[in-house]
Formats: sequence, structure tokens, C-alpha cells
Amino acid sequence: MSATIIDGKSFAEGLRGRIATAVEAMKANGVHPGLAVVLVGNDPASEVYVGSKARQTVEVGMRSFEHRLPADVSQQELEALVARLNADPEVDGILVQLPLPAGLDAEPVIAAIHPDKDVDGLTHANAGRLANGAVGLVPCTPLGSMMLIRSVLPDLSGKEAVVVGRSNLVGKPIAQLLLAANATVTVAHSRTRDLPEVCRRADVLVAAVGRPEMIRGDYIKPGAVVIDVGINRIPAPERGEGKTRLVGDVAFQEAKEIAGAITPVPGGVGPMTIACLLANTLTAASLRRG
Ligand code: GUN
Repeated sequence: MSATIIDGKSFAEGLRGRIATAVEAMKANGVHPGLAVVLVGNDPASEVYVGSKARQTVEVGMRSFEHRLPADVSQQELEALVARLNADPEVDGILVQLPLPAGLDAEPVIAAIHPDKDVDGLTHANAGRLANGAVGLVPCTPLGSMMLIRSVLPDLSGKEAVVVGRSNLVGKPIAQLLLAANATVTVAHSRTRDLPEVCRRADVLVAAVGRPEMIRGDYIKPGAVVIDVGINRIPAPERGEGKTRLVGDVAFQEAKEIAGAITPVPGGVGPMTIACLLANTLTAASLRRG
């Protein structure tokens, strides 16, 4: 039997609709949520991300403040901009697009963001709140992944969850969210022994390693929920010379024959990330001035 395909694009559309309704109600109460996005340099992929973020921010009725800085901006100037955004009452969320150009250190820039405006959930304060089960802002991709998991498996209590990957941006926060939902959580990584066997335990398998199609069909327990966070561009000579295509961390064609439900790439977790950024901006606005 072929798996249910979890449609992240349509889920994200629905979420944006609910956010737009909530923004309208906030505006009626005199609060107009705003998101500031900082782009340093002109990396083409980052330009595309930032453009989509700004467009979708405006589409749900929020204010979008774009700050573009040259690649040779100093560390001090960049941190000074973050300080101004922290102090600006019209700014509810601050996102500094990563990666930063060579020569700039992302860590102190992220640390400079006020935790209540940290809509990426990347500050130590928000990571700590998540680990301790306190109210805070949760990284967007993990938040979106959890929404998709719950759309097919509302009760995670006692389920075996395996997260492959331990990044601060994705693997660790997803593991925390699954734990908070009472799943039994294993975090696997590059040093894990017998990864296929560990993965086969999973009722919920989350792949966040950044290696194209590394999770094969025979890693998957029949009926499992498979969430593919990977977005990898690989050569596709069958489409013509120099052409590429996007694949996830999961070998989708094999996996969909065994899983109970699975996210595709593209159209799975990806569209949820920006929708959750908007959800976080709304949360930040209501926590700070709701
Ligand atoms: N670059 C790619 N994805 C992200 C993200 O989610 N947040 C930030 N700040 N930069 C990114």
C-alpha cells in the first residue's frame, strides 16, 4: 500500500489563512504586527528566501521591514542594526538571514537579538525555554514539522520517534518538541551505530541530515510517519545538460511504498517554514503587546 502524501503546501496555505484572520483582529485592536528581515550581501538563494518572506508577510496583513546591507558591512554595524530593531516598538520579529557572508560571525549577531523578538527561535534563551518546557519562540522548521506530524498522528504519547540529525536549527528542537509531546525520542547522527536498525524502531522518523536520499526504504518501519526535512539539489542529466532537481534526505519512491504517511520534497516541510515564521511573528506580537 502506498503512503498518504502529507501536503505541506496546502497545510501552509491554510495556516496563512488563519494567521491573516488573527492579524486582522489584532489590527482592529490597534496592534499591527511587523517582521524585520536582515539580508547581508547578495547570495542568490538568500535573495529568493528573503523575497518570499517579505511577500508572504505582507499577504497576511503584517508589516515587512527589509534591511539590506552590503557584504562588507562590519560586525559592529550589523549588531548595531539588531540593537535598533530590538528597540523599535513597531518591530515584533527579527530574522537575520543565514548564512552570513565570510568574515562575519553569526553567533554574536543572533545573541544580540532580543529573545522576545527572536522569531527564528535561535537564541540560547529560546533554546533553553524549549528544553525546559517554558513559553518561548520555537524554530520555524521544527514547528512546521510537528504540525505536519500531528495532522496524521494527533496523539504522540508513547510513540517511538527517531530524529536523524542533531543541528541546533532542526534536529535538537524537533527532538525537544517530540519529547514534550510524550514520544520516546532517539536522536541519531553521523556516529550512530547501525542507523538502519535504529530508524526501523521509529513510529515517527524525522530526517534532517542534509544528505540526498540517505534514508532508504528498508530503514522504515511499515506504516511509519516519515518527515523529510532535507532539501538537496542534485544533478539531473535526464532533464538535460546541467539541469538539477530537488530531493530530500529520504529516498521517496522507495519510502512511500512502506511508510504510512510521508512528506514529499518539494511541497512537504519546506512551505511550512515561512508560514511558521509568520505564526511566530504573530505569537511575538501577542506576547509583547497583545
Ligand atoms: N537560511 C535558510 N533558512 C533559514 C532560516 O530558517 N532562518 C534564517 N535566519 N536563515 C535561514
